[in-house]
Amino acid sequence: MSSKRIGILTSGGDCPGLNAVIRGTYKAATQLGYECLGFLKGYEGLYSPVNYITLDRKNTTGILNEGGTILGSTNKGRFAATVGVQDRVELDPELLEGVSQTVQQLGIEGLVCVGGDGSLAVAQQFHEYGIPVVGVPKTIDNDLSATAFTFGFDSAVECATNALDRLHTTAASHERIMVLEVMGRHAGWIALHAGIAGGGDVILLPEIPWTYDDVCHKILDREAKGKKFTLVVIAEGAPLPCGNLIAEEQAGAQARLGGIGPLIAKEIERRLHRECRTVILGHLQRGGAPTTFDRVLATQYGAHAVRLIVEQKFGHMITYSPPEMGSVPIMEAVNEIRTVDPHGAAVQAARALGISFGDCPADENPFAFCHADDSEAPASAEDVAEDAEFTISLCEAATEEALLD
Ligand code: F6P
Repeated sequence: MSSKRIGILTSGGDCPGLNAVIRGTYKAATQLGYECLGFLKGYEGLYSPVNYITLDRKNTTGILNEGGTILGSTNKGRFAATVGVQDRVELDPELLEGVSQTVQQLGIEGLVCVGGDGSLAVAQQFHEYGIPVVGVPKTIDNDLSATAFTFGFDSAVECATNALDRLHTTAASHERIMVLEVMGRHAGWIALHAGIAGGGDVILLPEIPWTYDDVCHKILDREAKGKKFTLVVIAEGAPLPCGNLIAEEQAGAQARLGGIGPLIAKEIERRLHRECRTVILGHLQRGGAPTTFDRVLATQYGAHAVRLIVEQKFGHMITYSPPEMGSVPIMEAVNEIRTVDPHGAAVQAARALGISFGDCPADENPFAFCHADDSEAPASAEDVAEDAEFTISLCEAATEEALLD
């Protein structure tokens, strides 16, 4: 047994690339003479009962391109924390003490915590308790502010883009309107990137208020130009025009977003009397092999996490600022989420191509459009009244099965 040890765990919702991080960490650590312990089922494996495996050549061979995580993961469980000033949720001190003892007893010099904002908030509280942790940012949502890309995002976009490619052909054959709902929580990155890559005609994001009137306007405009089908991509976290989110109630936890796609498809059908179909892509976006980009990124994250431990930069999270890998205090990384800039280059490019964000008539100058005041201007008082009337009834209908907050 090596005298030097590090630990690694994967926490929260899974995503493609977790195994690549595990492999990258194991390989980089081994080069430096460390033994690498992998804790099972996220933070749960750290305490009562302590549950880990020793990573070795055998169990890390062939996992670079495998989805999921060989260590397993737990979303929330006993380790649920937040670190925001306003809404800090403290971890049970007994858990913190238990984890601290596990780490000391196993002689772990540094623990690599791979997770999204919630899991990194736990890591931050470990750090404050004196447990030597470093963070690796993971989420398909790409919504961590400190890093240009989280691994898993590119793979999720690839999956959504493939779905759009497939929907494109069937939409064209049947002259239908296809609505694709994608994940991303309160950030529209997956919808925006997949929408552009997959030739979406309308992209609806949490960051850009939209109206049914403008969505329908775009569909009719396409028809007038001879395109009898339309692809609409909507982010699960895009609020309805009335401002409400569609989410499932979950006692004591973050609301589970999802279900807006079928609602808007129904309303488009009602307004335009055109055939609409919806696909909710769901967890397909989280499964399967990581893309090449995610394999490279995840491997870099793993190797640089070991560097942070060697440098004793505990309480830091690895970041990617192309082309460099850097780090920031975890606290900074989890402080705010990174959302799509409604005036950013990707949105501008999409507008320049005629893609609608459901917020302005199609004949607007795409590059002149980008003024916050303009984006809030309603199409007409009549349209707004009509939208409000419908969405209220939609919201009422949805309350029985969905939490609208
Ligand atoms: O944060 C990643 C994510 O996939 C979100 O895009 C989605 O809203 C959520 O997790 C789904 O979580 P669960 O797997 O718990 O349903």
